[in-house]
Amino acid sequence: MSPFRLTRTLPEDATGAALRADVREGLTGSPRTLPPKWFYDARGSELFEEITELPEYYPTRAEREILRARAGEIVEASGARTLVELGSGSSEKTRYLLDALSGLHTYVPVDVSESALTQAGQALAAERPGLEVHALIADFTARLTLPKTPGPRLVAFLGGTIGNLLPVERAAFLASVRALLAPGDALLLGTDLVKDERVLVRAYDDAAGVTAAFNKNVLHVINRELGADFDPDAFAHVALWDARREWIEMRLRSRTAQTVKIPALELAVDFAAGEDLRTEVSAKFRRQGVGRELSAAGLELARWWTDREERFALSLSVAR
Ligand code: SAH
Ligand code: AVI
Repeated sequence: MSPFRLTRTLPEDATGAALRADVREGLTGSPRTLPPKWFYDARGSELFEEITELPEYYPTRAEREILRARAGEIVEASGARTLVELGSGSSEKTRYLLDALSGLHTYVPVDVSESALTQAGQALAAERPGLEVHALIADFTARLTLPKTPGPRLVAFLGGTIGNLLPVERAAFLASVRALLAPGDALLLGTDLVKDERVLVRAYDDAAGVTAAFNKNVLHVINRELGADFDPDAFAHVALWDARREWIEMRLRSRTAQTVKIPALELAVDFAAGEDLRTEVSAKFRRQGVGRELSAAGLELARWWTDREERFALSLSVAR
């Protein structure tokens, strides 16, 4: 078994303080919003894994198809000794990269979900003697301090999770990734692509209701952590395509007029019947737009691969 290290980069109660600040800001603003990172407690991470296996949710399968076909080319173009993965979750698809990266010294999975990191990190360390696994519990939108490990580095951000950031957040995020890259390092970025609205909406409103449960999980998190009294059944799961902004929005729609109490914030929030709480955006991309956003952050798109049906893209970029 190779070494597995878990580092908490956040000070004591930083997560609690951040949750309180986000919930106060998001639920007192108009429209009401919550940042999607709060979906991912242990149950939320499990529900996300279930989503990846749904017939309607194509992004995971499409990205896996690209990784399976292109891992060799990706590795040839990067030759990394350290693989850093942001929002690594179960690290399931990462195995294609780990298999192909023959000279890899350290894998650094970074996630806010401690349960996902521990499960994935321990399994990988047990399976791959010789590979150091140094997991970081951290928010990838904050300034990251990475462990000192041998270069070159490949920074992977898979799954299309970049689409869960708003455009201004994406620009700041890409600039912070750029700042992590030394000459010879690269960014491997997964982006879901714009496609038929019906396919998109189905992917976020599946027949079995797993995405609805994932969406409502954020209410369970707030109930548990802040003593709130959200009744998840009093909200309906909604998935909408915004054609102008080219993103899916997940919302929770209040079925009735109701007041929710959040004791840890000494706050009561009134919802009108039919009022929406936006819980996630999931932006869909085009090649040109990805190139433009990378370029604005000082990165140059070097390679672009899609699955056969052109549903999802992986791009490799380097510092300019
Ligand atoms: N990369 C995996 C998992 C995607 S799910 C895949 O492609 O299947 C998104 C992951 O990002 C979750 O594990 C979640 O816990 C993590 N995440 C979401 N917001 C985050 C943030 N701000 N900082 C760190 N991790 C985050
Ligand atoms: C993690 N992220 C890329 C997923 C997505 O598709 O935006 C989260 C998700 N939300 C609903 N289903 C999956």
